[in-house]
Amino acid sequence: MTNFSFLRNIARALCVGAILSYSSLAQAQEKENAVSPVYSWRGCMIDLSRHFFTTDFLRKQIDFLAEHKINRLHLHLTDAGGWRIQIKKYPRLTEIGAWRTESDWHKWWIGGDRRYLHEGDSAAYGGYYTQDELRALVAYAQERGITIVPEIEMPGHSEEVTATYPELKCVGNEGAQADMCPSNEATYTFLENVLQEVIQIFPSHWIHIGGDEASRDTWLKCTRCQQKAKELGFNHVNDLQGYLIRRIQRFLTQKGKEMIAWDEALEDTTLTGATIMVWRNAAAARQAIRQGNKVIMSPTSHCYFDYHQDAPYLQPTGIGGYNTFNNVASFAPAAGLSAEERSYILGLQGNLWTEFIETPEHAEYMLYPRELAIAEIGLKGRISDISHFRKSIIRQYPHLDSLEIHYFDLRKEVGERPESQNQKNSQAADIKVVYHRPFSTYYPASGNEALIDGTYGGWSHTDGRWQGFCQSTDTIKKPYCMDLTLDLGKVKAIHNIDMEFLQNSEAWIYLPEDFRISISKNGRNFREIFQKGAPREPNSKPLYVHWRWIGTKKARYIRLQARAPRPGEWVFSDEIRINEQRGKCGTKPY
Ligand code: ACM
Ligand code: ZN
Repeated sequence: MTNFSFLRNIARALCVGAILSYSSLAQAQEKENAVSPVYSWRGCMIDLSRHFFTTDFLRKQIDFLAEHKINRLHLHLTDAGGWRIQIKKYPRLTEIGAWRTESDWHKWWIGGDRRYLHEGDSAAYGGYYTQDELRALVAYAQERGITIVPEIEMPGHSEEVTATYPELKCVGNEGAQADMCPSNEATYTFLENVLQEVIQIFPSHWIHIGGDEASRDTWLKCTRCQQKAKELGFNHVNDLQGYLIRRIQRFLTQKGKEMIAWDEALEDTTLTGATIMVWRNAAAARQAIRQGNKVIMSPTSHCYFDYHQDAPYLQPTGIGGYNTFNNVASFAPAAGLSAEERSYILGLQGNLWTEFIETPEHAEYMLYPRELAIAEIGLKGRISDISHFRKSIIRQYPHLDSLEIHYFDLRKEVGERPESQNQKNSQAADIKVVYHRPFSTYYPASGNEALIDGTYGGWSHTDGRWQGFCQSTDTIKKPYCMDLTLDLGKVKAIHNIDMEFLQNSEAWIYLPEDFRISISKNGRNFREIFQKGAPREPNSKPLYVHWRWIGTKKARYIRLQARAPRPGEWVFSDEIRINEQRGKCGTKPY
């Protein structure tokens, strides 16, 4: 964490904070009593698995969130990064599964061997909450109007489970830790026993069971999964995910609880009577509702607080993405839904995933003030005057200072990538683009003319203005993932060719390892005029580069080819300019 020099590092004055927060809480409550909140679910999620945070930290957040009438604290308690809740029947989950070899996510997960250690080992990083600690935390939150909702991940994001209880892996999966086997009765015994203890700690009506991003790779090779899928009449072992979720839903219902699952649960188009936490695509809400489920909106587009909130070059290393305070404040959870559909929307939630967030100060910096916009939307339905709301947040800074909340200072915000604010003239009328390798359907930008339309991307590769090309595994037949020809219509003098690339190694996007420009008058005989490459540099902050050929040539066809360093890695570009005025070239000064 290199950008925290401006954050004070003084011990927390618990008593002063608590007294101040209570007096302002009382005032806030008085004011709000007259108006009932639009949404009953005004949530905040904290991922405690990727990095462990103390109950003192959680109490501090509960105090502050309660002031803003957040009423649900969703704790992501289990994931590969570490199992954080004591389960008496399965002690290895916390004796081993809560402790890993590295705190640093790059070193442990991305570049490391993902090993766990024993509690007490001198090199062990991690921690967990005892059941008594969690009961006390639940009571503390309850007194402040906040329900703590626990999440126990299944069947994916469970490497710490299969590492400590390997009998829950698929048949034939001796090596890799992975998803739990959905075809083994032992998995259901385990999950039900765990949930039984969870239910006894958390009185919450809702229990979140995860259900997202199961890779399901090991199910394909597992004879037990193949047999089970056949028995159940499924076309594919992937459908076992829905089977597992339905069984767990039945178990929770019998216990008087309601299941929440991430929106992957909708792959089972018969799932009903659950609450779906929508994260991938706000449009999933409609499907959830059609199937008879309730919905909590927490889409990445507005509710992910691990994304940068300002220009990445000024921010701590993060997972990528770009989600400003104003963008969060612009979120309208029920936009486009009918009155009938709206009645299924319980509310919204901000999510703090913590892969790259190691300290309490950093966590608060990512949470606030964005979570305060979530709170306001939860109360009012939407924020009609964002500029006014922003000023009201800034006016609260002295109060946040008094509570020693380490917030992001909106007064210092730099804003979007300058190029994305100054669009150039489109070249599409004069130039035709022929793709020899297609751009990704996930990242098409505006399609065939995206690279010549004068539109530059912003800080985020997912903003719909960057076009993505994925490197093939067939590097002999398809050495370049980006391979296209610009047809100028007739032979013309060319002086400059400018190309923009982006690197975001957290999303496997790299600068081209090899980029070439060739020209031709007839479209058959090409002559290379430019070659450049950048070394593969993982773990760097996002980079934006501008590469330029300068010369004087005559040509009608310009072929541009770029290779990502490794199969599965990406090259992203937002624009190619021909015969632009000369200007600065190279890595952008951010
Ligand atoms: C998620 O972000 N995988 C829910
Ligand atoms: Zn299996």
